[in-house]
Amino acid sequence: MKTIIRRVQDETIEQIAAEATEIWKRGGLVAFPTETVYGLGGNGLDREASKKIYEAKGRPSDNPLILHIAEKEQVKHLISHMNEAGRKLMDRFWPGPLTLIFPKAECIPLETTGGLDTVAIRMPSHPVAQALLRKSELPIAAPSANLSGRPSPTLASHVIEDMDGRIDMIVDGGELGIGVESTIVDVTGKIPTILRPGYITKEMIQEVVGQVDVDPAVMGGMGEKIKPKAPGMKYRHYAPKAPMFLVEGEIGKVADAINRVLEKAKQDGKKIGILASEENEKKYQGGVVKVAGSHRELDCVAHNLYRILREFDKEGVDEIYSESFEGEEFGAAIMNRMKKAAGQQVINANELKDKIEQI
Ligand code: TXA
Ligand code: MG
Repeated sequence: MKTIIRRVQDETIEQIAAEATEIWKRGGLVAFPTETVYGLGGNGLDREASKKIYEAKGRPSDNPLILHIAEKEQVKHLISHMNEAGRKLMDRFWPGPLTLIFPKAECIPLETTGGLDTVAIRMPSHPVAQALLRKSELPIAAPSANLSGRPSPTLASHVIEDMDGRIDMIVDGGELGIGVESTIVDVTGKIPTILRPGYITKEMIQEVVGQVDVDPAVMGGMGEKIKPKAPGMKYRHYAPKAPMFLVEGEIGKVADAINRVLEKAKQDGKKIGILASEENEKKYQGGVVKVAGSHRELDCVAHNLYRILREFDKEGVDEIYSESFEGEEFGAAIMNRMKKAAGQQVINANELKDKIEQI
């Protein structure tokens, strides 16, 4: 298949939206920018389009898709029931990076929801996403536009890398702002439950609805024992090709420990990638150092994270060592993605140093 690539600065949004609508209406796939990551969209009411999405991504078909809408009014046609918490969250955070899980309406095929009787819905705030969704008047099913298991795309070039020749069209809307996927909140039960942390934090949600639970599988570290409620959270997602290790501890000690790794890697002829903070950048003696941002500016770290993971792939590093970016609020989302990228391989700086000295 030849993939059409349209850049927002070359054509009017109306032209691009008309072209995307035509493709969606005939069951095709269009990747488009949202405020979080690029999405790979198809008509969510068309079971064949949903099947094509799974195929293009190489994604297991038990992993449900999020429906994207332009207007809050569309929700009532897509769900069978809305409780007060759902309504409050929708009114407060839409359009924006919040996905809500509702009991689904009959019209939504099980292919779209991965066989579940619930449906995930969000109303993105990115102007290009809004223009396309408004023109199409369809609920567009869109997972992140990466091949399954790879980091989500935050630049059109990432989408082209993974999807060229596999889908009908890619809309290039430039570099995206937030850089990690939307917060997912299940509002099917009495107490809203966070299934995936994101830019809309637990504290922000609490302010609107009071009590909030967090799915215990979210922060990982519990191995296979706890099954996440969002099926997609069980996969080793967001992952670079090289093995990645997340190094925890006081930031100076983290840099020391990683420098030990570098000394050892030099003897072994290994190429090491370092995902560094601005604070530690100058301390590293070798390796491929990429700065995600400051420990005090986590927005910036989130914005850069997936791009840097893809860059490490391109550089062909053998192993990646990352500083950990613990923090309040938005920090939960960043650590969740980093732990997944590292396949839950988290090591304390002191332990890492001891381990290397023993070799
Ligand atoms: O920011 C985002 O949410 C991006 C952009 C493109 O909108 N989309 C995205 O989609 O991250 P995806 O497919 O990569 O992740 C969707 C997650 C998966 O973990 C999936 O299992 C979960 O949402 N999910 C979808 N429907 C669900 C449902 N009915 N119940 C529980 N989890 C659900
Ligand atoms: Mg994804």
